[in-house]
Order: sequence, then C-alpha cells, then structure tokens
Amino acid sequence: MVAIATELGDAGRCVCPNFLLPALQRDVRLDLDAAYRAGQFSRAGTGQGTSHLVRDDVRRDEVYWPDQAQANAVQLQLWAKTAALMQAINRTLFLGLHAFEGHYASYAAGGFYQRHVDAFADDDARMVSLVLYLNHDWQPSDGGRLRMYDQAAHVDVAPLGGTLVCFLSREVEHEVMPTTAARFSFVGWYKTAAASGPKRKSRARG
Ligand code: OGA
Ligand code: MN
Repeated sequence: MVAIATELGDAGRCVCPNFLLPALQRDVRLDLDAAYRAGQFSRAGTGQGTSHLVRDDVRRDEVYWPDQAQANAVQLQLWAKTAALMQAINRTLFLGLHAFEGHYASYAAGGFYQRHVDAFADDDARMVSLVLYLNHDWQPSDGGRLRMYDQAAHVDVAPLGGTLVCFLSREVEHEVMPTTAARFSFVGWYKTAAASGPKRKSRARG
C-alpha cells in the first residue's frame, strides 16, 4: 500500500497488477454480476446535480453504487481495502483524504469513455481516482484499455482482473478505449474535506 502511495506521489499515477487476491477478485465480480442481474445498474452520465447528463457520444457504461452503510460481506472487504489505501496515501502524501465513494461499472461490447478528468468543474473534492478491474480472461484483442495521458505521451493499461490503477483526479486526463468484450470494474474516488466552491474561486484569483 505504501509503495502505491509513493508511486502516486512521484508519478501522479500508479498501476498495480494483482492488487486483489484471486479469491476476492472472484467474489467481487460475483457480487457485481448479482447486482447486475438484480437490475441495479443504470446508464452512467457526466457532471453532477443539474448538469448531470447521459450522453452516448461521451460514455457508454452502466454503473451501480453499492450503499456503504448496507454493505454485504464482499463489499465490506472491498471498503476495507479502499480504507487501507486511503490511510497509506494520507500517511505518505498528506492529501487529507477523508471519504471514499465508488461504483461498479459495466461496459458492453462497443462501450467506451472519452478523454476526461474525474474532478467536477464546480467541485474539486475528488483528489484521487481508483479503478479495480474484474475481468478474468482479458485478451489484447478485446481492446478496452485505459489510456492515461501525460503531456504528449500516454500509457495504456489492459483491464486485467485484479489490477489496480490510481491517479490524481484533477490532473490525469484519461480515456477508456472502445471495448469489444464486456468489461467490468470497480471505480471510486477519494475526496478531501478542503473542497469548497468559494475557496477554489479565491485560489484561482490569488
Ligand atoms: C471513470 C473512468 C476508467 C476505467 O469511470 O471515470 O475513467 O478504466 N474509468 O474504467
Ligand atoms: Mn474517469
């Protein structure tokens, strides 16, 4: 966990294969599948509040936000992992992260998510983004890579089961390349308490 936080601080991003042990990875995927079958997913949009929009040209995935207050046994393990990583990041990078929000995501074949940053324009609470992939037999020909941009260059990551990616939400532009196979993940964000509209405005002026 500390190595991930250190890399995040040095490079602004970190990729960690096999972050989830195979047994937990399998259980989390089964939990996602059960939620999907129960009809708990819905089309994802962009923006929040009144600017929330579902746009086919921007992203094509479905998401489900498990309720952290009503977690089942598998979700409890998932939240525990995210809490341990938050503690490691705070101890290493002093970002003052205090909360986590996350959802399961499902991209059908043909799905993608255009280049974007994760922090909302009118709310800079999201500090660190986290993605955990839940695909057991991913093939290079399935596409669906995560592309993270860095100046003129970019890094691609295949969504292999168990792989963790984290990056600075405000800084790292990224994109989900078109997938030709169903693609499953758990995606979340660590937030800082320091976020507030007025503070951001005064910083921008100063
Ligand atoms: C997102 C996102 C990346 C991925 O949901 O905001 O960028 O690889 N996901 O699924
Ligand atoms: Mn994103």
